[in-house]
Amino acid sequence: EKRFGDNHVLRDISLTMAEGTVTALVGPSGGGKSTLLRCINLLETPTSGSIRLGEEKIDFAPGRKVGWPAIQKLRRQTGMVFQ
Ligand SMILES: Nc1ncnc2c1ncn2[C@@H]1O[C@H](COP(=O)(O)OP(=O)(O)O)[C@@H](O)[C@H]1O
Ligand SMILES: [Mg+2]
Repeated sequence: EKRFGDNHVLRDISLTMAEGTVTALVGPSGGGKSTLLRCINLLETPTSGSIRLGEEKIDFAPGRKVGWPAIQKLRRQTGMVFQ
């Protein structure tokens, strides 16, 4: 889940991507594609939910801070190319 105030951008999103596969994310402008990618890379902090990458799992909840080591660990294995 990701909210910007009253704007509930990512709602009940569940996505699994297997290692070594390619996934295309398509949808209308403003639909939340970039927000999802930014959440995966923790450029945005998800409002709630969890991200699992291999054996690593990070849980999110309103008001909960994510530790810098966990952020760095995840970012070492992810990247985002801006449009
Ligand atoms: N940092 C932000 N602050 C407030 N609203 C945002 C922010 N980033 C994105 N949004 C809003 O989230 C929604 C989804 O935007 P975005 O993820 O950029 O969509 P897409 O990449 O699919 O075009 C839009 O309504 C946008 O205005
Ligand atoms: Mg975008």
